[in-house]
Amino acid sequence: MTKVIFIERNGNRKEVAAKDGATVLQAAHAAGLDMEGVCEGSMACSTCHVIVDEAWLAKLPPASAAEEDMLDLTYGVTRASRLGCQITLTPDLDGLTLRLPQATRNMMD
Ligand code: FES
Repeated sequence: MTKVIFIERNGNRKEVAAKDGATVLQAAHAAGLDMEGVCEGSMACSTCHVIVDEAWLAKLPPASAAEEDMLDLTYGVTRASRLGCQITLTPDLDGLTLRLPQATRNMMD
């Protein structure tokens, strides 16, 4: 299991134990967190937007061009923004800390 720490919109900190190989989106859903994931991971909606804690940024594989393109279209993007459906959890990422943005944009609407 890999521990992921989510900082929710209201500032609450929630620790989630996720299966290795699950995505951040799947981990958030399993824990009942407020992350939509409308397109279920096909990089078409951007409702799984997360902001990665600075300390963890360099430990993640870089975003693909398609992920960057989708992030360009969403709200409140920072240089630490990623799509939760594109981050696969591995034991190396134990303790990964992510913040949920104040608002997301559903590009499929
Ligand atoms: S779930 Fe739609 S882009 Fe990640």
